[in-house]
Amino acid sequence: MQQANLGLVGGGTVGGGVFQAIQRNGALVASRLGVRLAVAKVAVRDLAKARAVKVPAAQLTTDWQSVVNDPGVDIVVEVMGGTTTARSVVLQALKLGKPVVTANKALLSAHGEELFAAAERAGTNLYYEASVAGGIPIIKVLREGLIGNRITRLYGIVNGTCNYILTRMKREGADFSAVLAEAQRLGYAEAEPSLDVDGHDAAHKIGILASLAHGFWVNPKDVHVEGIRHLTQQDIQFAGQLGYTIKLLGVVKQVVAGGRAAKATTRTAAAQARIQVSVYPCLVPNAHVLASVNDVFNAVYVRGDIVGDTLYYGRGAGQDATASAVLSDLADAALDLKFGTKHRIPPFVPHERAGAVIAMDAVTSRYYVRLAVLDRPGVFAKIAAILARAKIGISSIMQPEGHEGAVVPVILMIHDAPNAAMRKALAQIARLAVVKGAPVMIRVESFE
Ligand code: NAP
Ligand code: HSE
Repeated sequence: MQQANLGLVGGGTVGGGVFQAIQRNGALVASRLGVRLAVAKVAVRDLAKARAVKVPAAQLTTDWQSVVNDPGVDIVVEVMGGTTTARSVVLQALKLGKPVVTANKALLSAHGEELFAAAERAGTNLYYEASVAGGIPIIKVLREGLIGNRITRLYGIVNGTCNYILTRMKREGADFSAVLAEAQRLGYAEAEPSLDVDGHDAAHKIGILASLAHGFWVNPKDVHVEGIRHLTQQDIQFAGQLGYTIKLLGVVKQVVAGGRAAKATTRTAAAQARIQVSVYPCLVPNAHVLASVNDVFNAVYVRGDIVGDTLYYGRGAGQDATASAVLSDLADAALDLKFGTKHRIPPFVPHERAGAVIAMDAVTSRYYVRLAVLDRPGVFAKIAAILARAKIGISSIMQPEGHEGAVVPVILMIHDAPNAAMRKALAQIARLAVVKGAPVMIRVESFE
């Protein structure tokens, strides 16, 4: 049987998981593929480090170039993270005509266009299933399964660490920092966990999905990003009383003039639409399926103009889920070696030259707003007057019981309004003497 020799650059959570998964299911994969996968070499930073997954010392090196350049290595697996050395690893492997598998969404977000062009020039492929939503095969879904559809909506819970934190804060009232430390211990979090909690990791992933869905490589600078650091137990509880669950949501939507989500799905409408590509904490109605996606699980909800609504669910982070996605790419890369690259749909095909991301200010949303106000008559009137001048409608006002004191919380639910108008109105409200502290604003998604 033909054998494909793998060079792993990185032997941490994901690299160790891939090594272990090949030991466990290598024979199964070989019987399905007709190609045996064999790990030839693994590059790490520190040879002396204790490793949960034991790799024979003879296979370990600290020199990634010796892995990539080794003529005996057929496929390079970049699972080291970062965007500088990792970029060199991928470019060098592609230059040598070797297929590359990466789990590195930060790298693709920053350099995707360059790397896919390099793969095309070299006549090989760059695979990245593990870069988005852990074990969910969402890249293959968009690349192959839904190829006949225009994607009009895509909503994703795509960061396992944040979903784990939000779930435990809601369920147990757990403390943010303690749950983050637990996510790090479980191997869910990035080496730099601010990438997770400040929304950047989700933004990298949602940019990749938007690029695949809309056919132009989304510039990460155009993705609107908000994280979960500022969310409080109070907001999680108030949202619950109103029938919502707070999730960090990636949103990719066709938007028409006026900032509203596009309803039409014709070719002309699609060509004229601009795309909202954003990540922010969001109130999800409890009746919606995404509200029930808990712990480290991810889910991606995709609407195609032909298929309608579809949903993909699975573990979004961690050693085994990610290794499963890498194995799927390794199978494609091994078949490339066996039959050549031309028999499959390329990993990324640019096809929408005029595509553009709309600025968040121009998007229309609904909102939950929490204000801390002085408990005295006339306060609501002052706030309502500012919103009325901005032509922003209030759908409900709640002053929850049990918060007696000089300063009390007030929750406003706001009808559809442009983000720019809302931002300006909140800045004016924050300047009122009766309003204490910065207003909290969280968008509400209706999934229409
Ligand atoms: P990790 O546990 O920190 O592993 C990184 C590995 O790369 C380590 O083995 C490290 O060596 C090695 N490394 C770093 N710099 C190196 C260098 N210059 N030369 C050689 N080896 C080097 O990280 P991870 O969680 O596996 O993540 C790896 C990638 O997968 C990242 O891009 C991440 O975003 C992505 N990803 C992670 C998950 C997850 O759940 N963890 C899921 C999907 C995607 P040492 O072991 O000696 O330190
Ligand atoms: N840190 C990432 C997460 C790993 O928590 O989702 C999976 O990409």
